[in-house]
Amino acid sequence: MCGIVGYVGDGEAARFLLEGLTRLEYRGYDSAGIAVYDGEKIRIEKSVGRLSELKKKIAGDMPKGVCGIGHTRWATHGRPSDTNSHPHADCAGDFVVAHNGIIENYMTLKEKLIEKGHRFVSETDTEVLPHLLEEVYDGDFESSVRKVVTMIEGSYSLVFMSRRDPGVLICTKQDNPLIIGLGSGENFIASDIPAIINHTRRTYIMSDGEIAVVKKDSVWVTNNQGEPVTKKVFEVNWNAEAAEKGGYEHFMLKEIHEQPKAVRATLSSRFAKDGSSVVFDELKWNVDFLKSIDRIFIVACGTAYHAGLVGKYYIEKMARIPVECDIASEFRYRSPIVDDRTLTIVVSQSGETIDTLAALKEAKRLGSRTLAVTNVVGSSIARDADQVVYTWAGPEIAVASTKAYTTQLIVMLLIAIYMAELKKSMPEARIRELIEGAKNIPAQISETLEDTEPIKTFAKRYGFNEDVFFIGRSLDYDVALEGALKLKEISYIHAEAYAAGELKHGTLALVKEGIPVIALATQRSVYEKTLSNIKEVKARDAIVIGIAEKGDEELSKYADHVIYVPEADELLIPLLAVVPLQLLAYYAALTRGCDVDKPRNLAKSVTVE
Ligand code: AGP
Repeated sequence: MCGIVGYVGDGEAARFLLEGLTRLEYRGYDSAGIAVYDGEKIRIEKSVGRLSELKKKIAGDMPKGVCGIGHTRWATHGRPSDTNSHPHADCAGDFVVAHNGIIENYMTLKEKLIEKGHRFVSETDTEVLPHLLEEVYDGDFESSVRKVVTMIEGSYSLVFMSRRDPGVLICTKQDNPLIIGLGSGENFIASDIPAIINHTRRTYIMSDGEIAVVKKDSVWVTNNQGEPVTKKVFEVNWNAEAAEKGGYEHFMLKEIHEQPKAVRATLSSRFAKDGSSVVFDELKWNVDFLKSIDRIFIVACGTAYHAGLVGKYYIEKMARIPVECDIASEFRYRSPIVDDRTLTIVVSQSGETIDTLAALKEAKRLGSRTLAVTNVVGSSIARDADQVVYTWAGPEIAVASTKAYTTQLIVMLLIAIYMAELKKSMPEARIRELIEGAKNIPAQISETLEDTEPIKTFAKRYGFNEDVFFIGRSLDYDVALEGALKLKEISYIHAEAYAAGELKHGTLALVKEGIPVIALATQRSVYEKTLSNIKEVKARDAIVIGIAEKGDEELSKYADHVIYVPEADELLIPLLAVVPLQLLAYYAALTRGCDVDKPRNLAKSVTVE
């Protein structure tokens, strides 16, 4: 998730661009850049690091000009560096582009452009765009951009500049946000409302496929057929802080609702065109090594550890390879048994968790090959591991991990299917079934998010309890652990997750009248057993909130309340079952007046032991 800005008017473009990027830094902050047309050429200035590095770099020599674009980056393709920062230009510097999103077919396009003699300088997918425009430009800026758009696949918001068309910006979008700010004698382009809110509250919200030609005194919008579109002015009534959260009250709620998009992005370009297999272009190991792996460790902390538990289940179930999932701070001190056929997978949203980084180093010291699953390109863990597979969740600001967890589950699933294909341990029909099921998950998460009222009610009714239990079996137990952590860390309620079958071995002694028990019962293979555990706690007058699959008419006979998630493959349901638990934690924290995004005693990335 990156930030894009554009300005055309009579003022100094650079001033707006830097101010706008400051407002968008929450969208990505590993590098930044601006490009301004100075009457003769387009001057590009960019820098790795926070936006402040760019500001320092140009402080004494600000680019002059009244038309320009800017970008703050959250790297997906190509590590953070000056060269990989946006905006990017064509060979001659005539065309300059800033991009948010993923161009899925960039490798094919790049190869063809290189064959035609184009010279590339970066590792990014974005850089194909200015070279494509250079290739097709026929003097008509708008129709040339339209041609470029027909050649690319993926999700994107784009803004183009042309030295041959001064005073004109052209922007378009597909599956990524883009707005136009309507000023007086000036107009603005931005990924998100915060960037323009101090200059105008009158905006056009761009729709997928639309192309806008933006000049200082006009905005001309057409659809993907080239037909004029009459846009309705959207008056922004948010304050700047609310705008950064996209109108949500907290980053955590915004990020919970971003999960469909984050999962879709993480799935994108990771399936073969015919849907028959998983594709990991980024994995550079040879097949013989991958086939030789006979033991896997998954090592992580907190929520990432809970994702690892699901990963263990997936890989053992599908690829039939023994997997140990370990807390990083334990792994590094227990002399794990590792050899050259061991793969250690470290999972970390931030890529900076010191315990996980130390565990990674220990695994390497013992001779294990290492794979990082992380959300931050170029992070310490990403750089230290032998190979990296990224989640593409975009920046996660709230301390409580939500979209990081679901995108980590997606990567675990993809790895399991990928290994199963190599080991030929799963029938092709079953692989296709899981791939099709995975593709439905973003829409099913959206469906799960449609009605949050029951969860708000439960949070208000039970939010003041000091103890809450989560129970489940198999994958339900793994998700119960994550649900309990969410509730603990943001509402400060003492929540514990227990394997449902474990209750009678001691924990049942804690169950008393009125204690809330969140019972996950989505795993058909152990459903009857879970039901008997629910009866156990009901017999002690607990209040049971069940999490079940739509169509389950049994659970409501025993549970006091039931929250339903859409029907899905038993292996995929964790991606849905966790959503009501995230929301329950969120609304319970609100009920208790807690600081949802910055809970006490906690940090977003634990870089100290
Ligand atoms: C999750 O909600 C917590 N914020 C915390 O447990 C977190 O998952 C853990 O610190 C690991 O962080 P990482 O994924 O950045 O390594």
